[in-house]
Amino acid sequence: MSTVRASDHGSLVVEVLRCTACRLCLHRKNVVIARGPASAPLMLVGEAPGECEDRQGRPFVGPSGQLLDRLLARAEIPPESIYICNAVKCRPPANRDPSPGELKSCRSWLLGQIRLVRPHVILTAGRTATTAVTATYGPMGVLLSHRDLVCRFCDQPIPVVPLYHPAYLLRRLHDKTSGPVFTDTVARLRRAWVGANSVTAVEEAETHVFH
Ligand code: URA
Repeated sequence: MSTVRASDHGSLVVEVLRCTACRLCLHRKNVVIARGPASAPLMLVGEAPGECEDRQGRPFVGPSGQLLDRLLARAEIPPESIYICNAVKCRPPANRDPSPGELKSCRSWLLGQIRLVRPHVILTAGRTATTAVTATYGPMGVLLSHRDLVCRFCDQPIPVVPLYHPAYLLRRLHDKTSGPVFTDTVARLRRAWVGANSVTAVEEAETHVFH
């Protein structure tokens, strides 16, 4: 695993663009790092780029990204308030799941992103991202039932709200029984957004009182 030395987001990007830590670098068109501001109070971590993301060099810009954007809008989360990235920065061939070795090689980049952005709340899309961020294992149904998942990459634990992966939701879009899954996803996004803002409010109040 490479070590992140970058002390700001721009330097991190320069380092990640040069990464050759695993074989995924042999097939990539682009390294897919993030979209959204590094000052955002919310962060969403997905699994790995797909074909559209590899071509454009931006996460979640294909069909599942378009669904994600609609869900974010439904939860009234402004695009400029969320930093979106993936656990793995290069596309696995034929969109296969990233291997444990590839996740490990990319882990220091994710850790660097979390430490530099320091989001108030992290959303994780799917099982792979949830495990990469929280080191908690289990099927998605069980991960979704946890109410107290946290990321411990920073000095203070960051609350984590897991979500079904948008690619899974896309497959269920026309399934008449899937209404509750969508309602629950929007409610989770909303909960994360409200949580991220209440932390901001507390920090602002503390700044006001003590400085
Ligand atoms: N799926 C992901 O997990 N990430 C992307 O960027 C696109 C699809």
